[in-house]
Amino acid sequence: MQLMSVLNLDLTKEIQRLKKEKNAIVLAHNYQISPVQDVADFVGDSLKLSRLAGETDASYIIFCGVHFMAETASIISPDKKVLIPDLEAGCSLASSINPNELLKWKNENPDAVVVSYVNTSAEVKALSDYCCTSSNAVKVVQSIPESNTILFLPDMFLGAYVAEVTKRKNIKIWPGECHVHAGITDKDINRMLNKYVNAEFMVHPECSCTSSTLYHISNGDINGESKILSTEGMMNEARVSKNNQFLVATEVGILSRMRQENPSKEFIPVKEDAICKYMKKITIEKVYNSLVNDVYEVKVPEDIARKAIIPIERMLAIS
Ligand code: 13P
Ligand code: SF4
Repeated sequence: MQLMSVLNLDLTKEIQRLKKEKNAIVLAHNYQISPVQDVADFVGDSLKLSRLAGETDASYIIFCGVHFMAETASIISPDKKVLIPDLEAGCSLASSINPNELLKWKNENPDAVVVSYVNTSAEVKALSDYCCTSSNAVKVVQSIPESNTILFLPDMFLGAYVAEVTKRKNIKIWPGECHVHAGITDKDINRMLNKYVNAEFMVHPECSCTSSTLYHISNGDINGESKILSTEGMMNEARVSKNNQFLVATEVGILSRMRQENPSKEFIPVKEDAICKYMKKITIEKVYNSLVNDVYEVKVPEDIARKAIIPIERMLAIS
């Protein structure tokens, strides 16, 4: 069916009907636009969505996030049909390392343990020992014996944060970055912290200001509370915190869910234009199109999936 011919239908209702008819679930990342989050069965961060992909009985998973997340879901649930509504939903961070670059790095460090952030391609995961997400990166690194050198990739800010928290000296960090989070700088943070002196401050570990934030926290330079959290960690904190005003340093898509779930609290983005264009590729029209036309399937070749599942399962075991 042509997209144009359904413009007058209530897409939301149609999506709900199709989900039942096909035994499909919609998983949406916290950065998705509100209409997509509204039609989702579950909204969450990378770790939560990976877990849900492994637990669901649904026949179809419509993954509203970026490509590596859909690949991870397909690796975890090879018997499910995983669809992504737009194949152009990529990730600048995942693109910052390819399998050949990792192979070269491994050859230069033959005894090292490779820890890959989940924002990597399936091929890179297949060459890794452990995967981690922003919510369990510290625990994953802590689970590796002190004597092992670690190759941490691809996010240099998350790597610097993990090295600082774990106090490990033998972590080598790949110089990759996410263009959205790298754009949230010390200058942005300081300007907002000076303006909202009593707000609680929540920052994603991919932000370029993370290391200096750690420094400010340890020096007691920040008046209000401050926490370095994954996107789902931020959602939990927004719910349980006694504070009423929050400064949020991450992609701004998370704010609509925060405001919806906590109507009496105020959430202020540290940077209004911290927008991931890849996450915004997905619309409800495209979700509908996925359900109607079974597009676009994300399937990882079996030989890659067989290797990539090992670091992913290690990641899921450590939360
Ligand atoms: P989370 O794992 O915190 O959801 O982050 C994923 C991501 O892509 C951040 O940019
Ligand atoms: Fe990738 Fe950055 Fe977008 Fe997250 S925000 S999906 S790391 S480009």
